[in-house]
Formats: sequence, structure tokens, C-alpha cells
Amino acid sequence: MKHLIKFFFIILFISSCSNENEGVISEKGMVVSAREEASKIGVEILKKGGNAFDAMMATELALAVSYPSAGNICGGGFMVFRKSDGTTGALDYRERAPISSTRDMYLDEDGNIIEGLSMIGGLSVGVPGTIAGIFEAHEKHGSLPISEIFTPVIELAENGIRVTSNQKDRINENRKYFKLANKSHKKFDKDFQINEIIKFPELASTLKRIMLNGKDEFYNGETAVKLIDFIQQNGGIITLEDLKIYKPVWREPIIFNYDNLKIISMSPPSSGGICINQIMGMIEPFDLNKFEHNSVEYIKLLVEAERRSFADRSHFLGDPDFVNIPVKNLVNLDYLEKRMQNFSFEMPTNSDDIGYGDITIGESDETTHYSIVDQFGNAIAVTTTLNGTFGSKLYSEELGFFLNNEMDDFSSKPGYPNMYGLIGGEANKIEPKKRMLSSMTPTIVEKENELYMTLGTPGGSTIITSVVQTILNVHEFNMSMQEAVNAARFHHQWKPDSIRIETNFFSNKVMKELKISGYKLNDKGVIGRVDGILIRPDKKLEGGADKRGDDTAIGF
Ligand code: GLY
Repeated sequence: MKHLIKFFFIILFISSCSNENEGVISEKGMVVSAREEASKIGVEILKKGGNAFDAMMATELALAVSYPSAGNICGGGFMVFRKSDGTTGALDYRERAPISSTRDMYLDEDGNIIEGLSMIGGLSVGVPGTIAGIFEAHEKHGSLPISEIFTPVIELAENGIRVTSNQKDRINENRKYFKLANKSHKKFDKDFQINEIIKFPELASTLKRIMLNGKDEFYNGETAVKLIDFIQQNGGIITLEDLKIYKPVWREPIIFNYDNLKIISMSPPSSGGICINQIMGMIEPFDLNKFEHNSVEYIKLLVEAERRSFADRSHFLGDPDFVNIPVKNLVNLDYLEKRMQNFSFEMPTNSDDIGYGDITIGESDETTHYSIVDQFGNAIAVTTTLNGTFGSKLYSEELGFFLNNEMDDFSSKPGYPNMYGLIGGEANKIEPKKRMLSSMTPTIVEKENELYMTLGTPGGSTIITSVVQTILNVHEFNMSMQEAVNAARFHHQWKPDSIRIETNFFSNKVMKELKISGYKLNDKGVIGRVDGILIRPDKKLEGGADKRGDDTAIGF
């Protein structure tokens, strides 16, 4: 009942927002993130003269303090950037499998998945990349001294954060898992009140050491030793050697055109860029303008493109350092046209009839996304994660943070679904030092060679489809950034063969027609929390912060 009431208020809030045409408007720079504290700290860094990469480090760390269910220093992520001179790039600081991991490490002797092993506790933890990632981005592109960036975050951890209603619920829902995962757990084992302050002195100390000693503190220093001790005491297999050899990787982003837009998104080991390229490539030949927004025809077209793309995802995609991904073939326009040849507005395609394409040669939703545009014209899109809500639920009281459970993003048993119901193939099997496949889709859009949008969202597998719909909302349906973010969403991922839909936002008529056409519908609550920035024709920035969460846009 409590959930129903909460859902009702979210709907009420979103419907009232949809009357507002615009989000926050600013002239120079902006940060949009899952928490007001993090957006504020990011913007303060910009105001001090820092650039988007400095603000990235500050925002990422501030989310680790203010949004511990997904913000992190012991997880991983992806960053896509576009500098003011038009150069683009992508940074992969995704977690990796430990050196001593094995393909069948989550299976029993009969080859069955041992439930929960890849999701909770020490064995579910991947070698973390976040600290290495933000230091790498700062070293290459940042401008302010590390101490200037860390200081406000350390103050936030010392002074504490105010518990929101969403946060109170999230902590309460997970308290039983905290107890299950941890030998002793005090920090979150209480019923927090809304607006109560939680302080993080242990995290503040950890951050101080990292500020003084650099990233080596986390990968080869006192923090590293304590972290490894903690993981191993809790059944994990990560060693100091795993931490010492971890490195983020600069990658070429996936870049493609849609209409007069150039879309720059994350490359493997994220499936995001390739999947949005496929989906948008499959729908481009259709005249979307003749459909009403979220009409039955529009939903069918997108759903069928999504179905086909997710079928390819499950077979072909994995860590590009381990598997040969036929990227060019997968996004080839002739191939995409062929994939849609059996699409019909009359009836759904059966997912069992859709294998992966004929190419010759292979997620709870508690990720978090933030978008930044600075006063120099640089833009970044970052999605970062612990995987599940509060990751592995393992919390180091000594170090003050949660550990990821990213190992569940591998296919523990190819052909079987992970926590997002995504079926993985051989390409995403567990191998030592390999990165697990992701759906995170930080994306930047150019229009006629100018910066146009930066966006992304949490939501596991729904990330990909939420990003596509938000871009289309702005581009095809002329919505403002805030309207595009508010708009109702739906999602199909090949298997299970049903449309996940925010039912309360869609008319009974639309849902009835979809059902009559043969589609199964399900509703598991809100889909995604998109945070984006749009550069308007008058060059002002418009922030779209998703009110499905506590997300906040702050500009100056
Ligand atoms: N852990 C969610 C993702 O990487 O897609």
C-alpha cells in the first residue's frame, strides 16, 4: 500500500511537471545529477574556474557520499566527452573480473547457478575502477589541483547528508540484505527519518588519504590493504595484485548519424552505443513525424527495433579486449534494414523466432548518471554504478563505503538471465581480467556540428531504450529537455518477450490496442531517471532532472 501511495505521488508530481515546459535554464555551465549536494559541488568547481573534467571528479565523489546506493568509489563507470573544439572520446573505468575468477564460479557441481552468489557478498565484487577512472580523466583533461576538488566532498562527508524520502525507503528495503551480507553491520541498520543527517567520518578519512596520496592509495596503499582484507574476510577472491594492475582504458566512442544529428555514445564493453545505433538505424527509414508521441504505432516500431537489437546484444557483445565484436556489421544500414524486413504493424514478432542476426565472423537498476556542460563549452556524460542497489550490500565500516556486485553483469551461465533478466552469451562469459558487458549509455548529441545534448540514465537494461526515447522526444517531438525527461517510457529487451511500460502514464486505449495486437505488458514501476542538458537555439542550457528520483539540475 505504501508503495502504491508513493507511486501515486510520483505520478502526480510528474503529471504536474509535464505542464511545465522547461527545466532549469542557465547561461554558462550546468551539472545535473541524482542529488542536489552533488550537483552543487560540481557547479561550485565550475564557478571556481574548473572545467567539466574537474567537475566530473567532484560530482562522482560527491555522489559516493550523498547517494551511496549507486554513487561510489568502489564500482566503475563510463564517461563520454566532447570538448569545445569538437574532439570526442570515451573513458572505460568498468570493473574487471579478478585474476583467479573462473567461468563456472557461480555454478554448483551439477552446473546450476547458485542463487545469490554473483549478487551479494564478497564473491560478487568486481575489481573496482572508479578512483582510477576519475584520476585518469583529471590527469588528461582536468585543470584544478586535486585538493581543491576533494576538499568540498570531504566536508560533505564530515558534515553529513540529509536523508530524503526515497533514500529512507531504499535503505529500509535493503536492511535485511545488509545483515545477510555483512558479519556485523551498524551504519545503516536503523530506521532513518526523513531529513535526518547521516555523517560519513570513515569515508571522509579514506577520501583524505586518497587526496594526499593519489589513486595509488586506493590501489596499492593503506586503503588497498584494508579493502582486500575486508573482501577476503567476506569470501571474495580479489587480491592486491588485482588492484595494482587495474587500469582504465580510453576508447573510441560509437559515433553515428541520425537525421541531422551526430550521436556519440559508449563503445564496448558497454552495449549502449551499439544498441542505440542499431535501434535508431532500424527506425530511421520510418517517418516518425506521422505517428503521435507514444501512440500504438510508435510503440510497436520502437519495441520491434529494440527486440532485434537486444537479441544481437546477447550473442555478440562482450569485452572487446577478449571477444571479436563485428561492430561495423552490426550497425551496417543494409543489415539493419534486413533485420526489420519481417516487422509488421499487424502483429508482434515472436522473440523465439528472432535469433541473433546472420553475421559472419558474437541488472535492480541502481546505476546513476550525471551530465555536465562547462563555461568553456566542454560536455561530458558519465554513468557510474555499483550494479545493484548498494551493490554487493557489503559495507566496509572501516573505510566507509559499499562494494559493487558487478560480477552479476557477466553471464554466469550463458543462456540464462542475470538480475536484469538479460540473457548473456558466450561472448560475456567470465574470464580473468575481463570486463563484464554493460548497458550504461552515457551519450552526447551534436546537431549541425554544434553541441546539442548530453544525457544518460540508470536503469540496467532499460538504460538503452530510455536514452533513445529521450533523444527522440526532443528531436522528433519537439519537447524541451524537461518534458523529454518527464515523458512516459516503455522498454523491450527481446527476452522476456513483453513490453515493460509505465502503465499509469499511458491511456487504457493504447494499452488495450497493444494487447489486442498480441503484446504482453508488464509494469515494474518507473523506468530510468534520465538526467540531461540541452543547448537551446539561444545558446542557453536547459537541464532536465528526472523527478522520478531526487535528481537536481543546477546551473550558473
Ligand atoms: N550494472 C549495470 C550496467 O552496467 O549496465
